[in-house]
Amino acid sequence: MLLKGALTSISLAIAAITTVVAVPVSQTLKGRQEDNTNGDGQVTWDKHTIMVNGERLFLFSGEFHYFRLPSPDLWYDIAEKFKALEFNGISFYFNWGYHSPKKGVYDFDGVRNVQKAFDAAEAADLHVITRAGPYINAEVTMGGFPNWLINMYAMARRSSPENDANSREWLEQIDKFLVPNQISRGGNVILNQIDNEYAVNTDPKYMEMIKDQFKKDGMDVPTIFNDIGAPNGNWVSGPGSVDIYGWDSYPLGFDCANPTVWGTNRSIHWREANERLNPDQPLALYEFQGGAFDPWGGPGYDACRQLVNEQYAKVYYKNNYAQGATIQNLYMTYGGTSWGGLATPSVYSSYDYGAPISEPGLMTPKGYEVKLQGTFFHTVKPFLTTERFEPKSDNSDIILIDGLADVNTNTKFYIAQHWNTASEELDAFHVQMETSDGKFKVPHKGKLVLNGRDAKILVSDYDFESQHLVYSTSEIFTHQDMGSHDVMLVYAYEKEDGEIALKAKSKASKVKIETKDKTVTQSALKKDIVQINYKHPNGTSPIYIKNAGEKDLLLLVAGYSSATRWWAPIVDSKSGNRVLIHGPYLVRSAEIKDNSVSFKGDIDETTDIQVVVPDNIKSFKWNGKDIKLKPTGHGSWKGTLNFGRPQVEYTDLTKATWKFSQGSPESQPDFDDTEWITADHLQTNSVTVPDTWPILYADDYGYHTGNIWLRGTFNGTSEITGFNLTCYAGAASAWVIWLNGEYLGGYDVGNQDFTNLNGTLIDPEGTNVISILLWTTGHADDWDADDRYKQARGFTKSELLGVKNQTIWAIDWKIQGNLGGEDLVDPVRGPYNEGGLYGERNGWHLPGFPDDKWEDASIPETKNRTGVSWYRTTFEVNIPEGYDAPMSLKFDDDTKTRYRSLVFVNGWQLGRYANDLGPQTQYYLPNGILNTKGENTLAIAVVAVDEAAQVGKITLEPYTILESGIPDVKLVESPTYQDRTQH
Ligand SMILES: *[C@@H]1O[C@H](CO)[C@@H](O)[C@H](O)[C@H]1NC(C)=O
Ligand SMILES: *[C@@H]1O[C@H](CO)[C@@H](O)[C@H](O)[C@H]1NC(C)=O
Repeated sequence: MLLKGALTSISLAIAAITTVVAVPVSQTLKGRQEDNTNGDGQVTWDKHTIMVNGERLFLFSGEFHYFRLPSPDLWYDIAEKFKALEFNGISFYFNWGYHSPKKGVYDFDGVRNVQKAFDAAEAADLHVITRAGPYINAEVTMGGFPNWLINMYAMARRSSPENDANSREWLEQIDKFLVPNQISRGGNVILNQIDNEYAVNTDPKYMEMIKDQFKKDGMDVPTIFNDIGAPNGNWVSGPGSVDIYGWDSYPLGFDCANPTVWGTNRSIHWREANERLNPDQPLALYEFQGGAFDPWGGPGYDACRQLVNEQYAKVYYKNNYAQGATIQNLYMTYGGTSWGGLATPSVYSSYDYGAPISEPGLMTPKGYEVKLQGTFFHTVKPFLTTERFEPKSDNSDIILIDGLADVNTNTKFYIAQHWNTASEELDAFHVQMETSDGKFKVPHKGKLVLNGRDAKILVSDYDFESQHLVYSTSEIFTHQDMGSHDVMLVYAYEKEDGEIALKAKSKASKVKIETKDKTVTQSALKKDIVQINYKHPNGTSPIYIKNAGEKDLLLLVAGYSSATRWWAPIVDSKSGNRVLIHGPYLVRSAEIKDNSVSFKGDIDETTDIQVVVPDNIKSFKWNGKDIKLKPTGHGSWKGTLNFGRPQVEYTDLTKATWKFSQGSPESQPDFDDTEWITADHLQTNSVTVPDTWPILYADDYGYHTGNIWLRGTFNGTSEITGFNLTCYAGAASAWVIWLNGEYLGGYDVGNQDFTNLNGTLIDPEGTNVISILLWTTGHADDWDADDRYKQARGFTKSELLGVKNQTIWAIDWKIQGNLGGEDLVDPVRGPYNEGGLYGERNGWHLPGFPDDKWEDASIPETKNRTGVSWYRTTFEVNIPEGYDAPMSLKFDDDTKTRYRSLVFVNGWQLGRYANDLGPQTQYYLPNGILNTKGENTLAIAVVAVDEAAQVGKITLEPYTILESGIPDVKLVESPTYQDRTQH
């Protein structure tokens, strides 16, 4: 704070003046307005919205996790897609554990360079919400706590000298990036969250400690908090409270197995809570359901995308707006991948989430719907300052209409939805609209309908450009002054009636309409109000209207599916001016230079396009190349973007030469484990209570990620009949056990007796060796702040059977995990990339590992393989410049045998496959980790849970091929086998 120079003081003064000018006096004087400012005053708020540099905005934000996309150049691609879908904000969780493998050790290089995430957001003109925890949940292992915290004596998320010191250690580190990226320092961070969904077992001193550390380090943007799934009033006032309180909500839940089942009652009445809890603050939904996560063995993300679909986005998001929300962050907007050991046991590698942008970065119907909504409220400014009113309507038992009236103009909004949220009925209704031009029962002609799971925002009494809209039964996408005339685009489902009433500058009878659309009729609603009726086409109909406003109006009437392919990129950030373009799969941006518009975007096929631009525009570029379009009148041009046949090349893996090595020598009795750690602890900080000793929890010995080996020895006697073991680990974990080198079985977590081994496998006179391979699925979260993240990964009980005087320490144990434990041997790929498999410890997953002495193999495998099998090959990918072909690795196998696989591409663990559980069979290989211009190394470790396994077919496959304006993606630098062994 003290470092701020004179320049900042000047900008402070200017910012303060701007704020006063931009906010109507009636609002500045209300309530605690003078307190509602932070830092240098760039971010202010009142009950309606936040204001950034004095400008009101609907903060339409999307959640993105940089740690789920280990390719920083792709962060720019995702940020551009956010902007294209009309998000003006991006929310980042910062994952403490991703940066800190060991107490005091922090890494912000390479894929951990969070500055690049801020830069990507800045490049796409997105405001940033920072959510640095310390706790984040996010379905990441330990909810984002670092691995080493599991051995902390004190409770997390409570104030204590030990926990405070650890939390402050992280905040000091991450604040080095957060602080200079705040808007007060010229960056794009506007809000900062304190912890996360902290609502049970709470400790105000803990919240105060976090706030204090942020403040100490120089955080000055408003603080926010996301209450736990509902407005329960946590941290809205008193110790630990934040500047702008809000909450999270996941109204459809996570049952993707029933993807058409919605709750039937509109149970969400946010407005009352906002008025009761924080009436001076905007209604903020810091996490609102954008998709759903899916567990091991779940129905898969296609089902989640169906559950949380574009109809959901219409009904539930519009309900939020009806309740007055002006801050809405969709969790997730891009989910990405929980690569390596990043996930909690509750989810598998893909974190696609059924989000608006899919895991490989593709557009979805929900993404297009969100774009329609965002464009609307970034265009129609009276939407930002409304109060509730109760509109009158017929059919009010079936159709619910919420009213929002602008406090500054006469503009009103009517948000219509079915009372029964899940209704799939087609229901007609009228709305009584009281406008400055009179009272109207709308529509006058035809029908206003909700066809099933739909919701509509209707507008009345709205001045736009040089026009005055009396009302519209079609929803507004956007409008724009094009110089010689105005343009407005409206939409509804195909075949639905539409009615628009416009004030005529003189008489309604003088208004002239030109259109080829035969469904269009014109009449006089009043002497000076023209009424236009039409049917929404399958496509977009132009209607040219003269003598309504000062300028002519090009009214574009679109059917829904046509509307989803309209884009309105901003060409001038100062004025917010837009141009319109229809057709492409994705339009990333548009820029006007002289008399030319340059578009950047993606197409997935040869695409007819239409652009609508100011009169002076005469030429067009698409991804830097000139394109020829034909003028069709009124600033509208048409043409075709040809999809070239790209030569995307990639190796056919079924024909590749594979190398094989057995990879579980630890299972054999003569394996030399003298270098392993002796498990000899008698005490643990885990919340899991042991039944026998020694403590057999991997974390207690510094091993936190991936596969763990345990080897137990006991002296045989004639009384010992067997042993009993209880495995404690997360869902979908598995363990495989051998006695004296013989396979005993593969199991889920839980208790297991091994009996009748006397006279067979147990040597009554010699030393007996138990070998166990434990496949772990990450650590629990700490959602309830009860330290469950400290649950054990290992065994709570190990005892011999048949022994008369049983001792609590019957077996001697050694334990082995990832090479180096908390002292990472590969800090570039980081703390979650590798575990304790023999091959991982010996660098078999790395590029450059000399596998020439390994035996040749083929995949699909034809031999029965026991224990751990490693397969290596190289493959080529060639994606030409100007194309994007997100690649995947696909498993195709029957589910008869139980086996698990780790997928390493160029040394990065991009996926965990569970043949017996599923559902994931396709693994995204992000450009940047994947070399798209040459050779790649693939290593696959197969752990047979059954006695033997044969891995099935494995192929490379692009999700799609796009001719693309994707920014250049450089290969992420990471060490080879030689780099590791030379050290
Ligand atoms: C619109 O037309 C296209 C092609 O003519 C057709 O495939 C599509 O089903 C139509 N959509 C609607 C909603 O009628
Ligand atoms: C096994 O016997 C050896 C030699 O008598 C002894 O040192 C060791 O402690 C015994 N192990 C166990 C687990 O009792």
